[in-house]
Amino acid sequence: MKEIKIATTVKVFDTLEEMLLEDKNLMLSAISARKKAYAPYSKFNVGAAILLENGEIILGNNQENAAYPSGLCAERVAVYYAGAQFPGIKILKLAVSASSNITKVNKPVGPCGACRQALAEYEITQKQPFPIIFMGEIGQIIKTDSLSALLPFSFDSSYL
Ligand code: THU
Repeated sequence: MKEIKIATTVKVFDTLEEMLLEDKNLMLSAISARKKAYAPYSKFNVGAAILLENGEIILGNNQENAAYPSGLCAERVAVYYAGAQFPGIKILKLAVSASSNITKVNKPVGPCGACRQALAEYEITQKQPFPIIFMGEIGQIIKTDSLSALLPFSFDSSYL
C-alpha cells in the first residue's frame, strides 16, 4: 500500500480589481447573467460566463422548475449552450457568481459536483485545461487552473 497525495492549488483574490482584466470582465458578465437567473424556488441565483477561443462569451444562469429536479444549474446551461452553438470551439475560461435573495453570499461558490462532471467532458475533449473563477455575491474570488483541479478522478470515456 502507498498513499498518494492529490493536492489542489488555487489563487484567492480579495477583490476583482486584483484580477486580470479579462478575468474581471468575465466575472462581470457572470454577475449580469446571475441577475437574470430564474430561481423562484431556491431564491439562489447563479450566473456563469464562458469565454470561447473564438472570442464569444456564452452566458448561462440557473433555470428552476416547479418539478424541482427538472431545473438546471447555470454552469450546465452555459456549457451546453456553448456546445450547441459552437461545437468544437475551445473553452478558454469560465466564471461563476452566486447570490441569494435570503442571505448575503460572502464566500466563493464553486460548481456543484454534477456540473464539474459535465464540464470535465469538455476539458478532456478539448485537451486543454481551462481556468474556473468563482465567487459569491461579495467577498473573495477563487481561481483554479483547470476543471480537473476541482474534480480528480472524474469519469471519462476511457472507462466505457
Ligand atoms: N446552482 C447552480 O446553478 N450552480 C451550482 O453550481 C450550484 C447550484 C443552482 C441550482 C438551483 O437552482 C440553486 O442553485 C440552488 O441549489
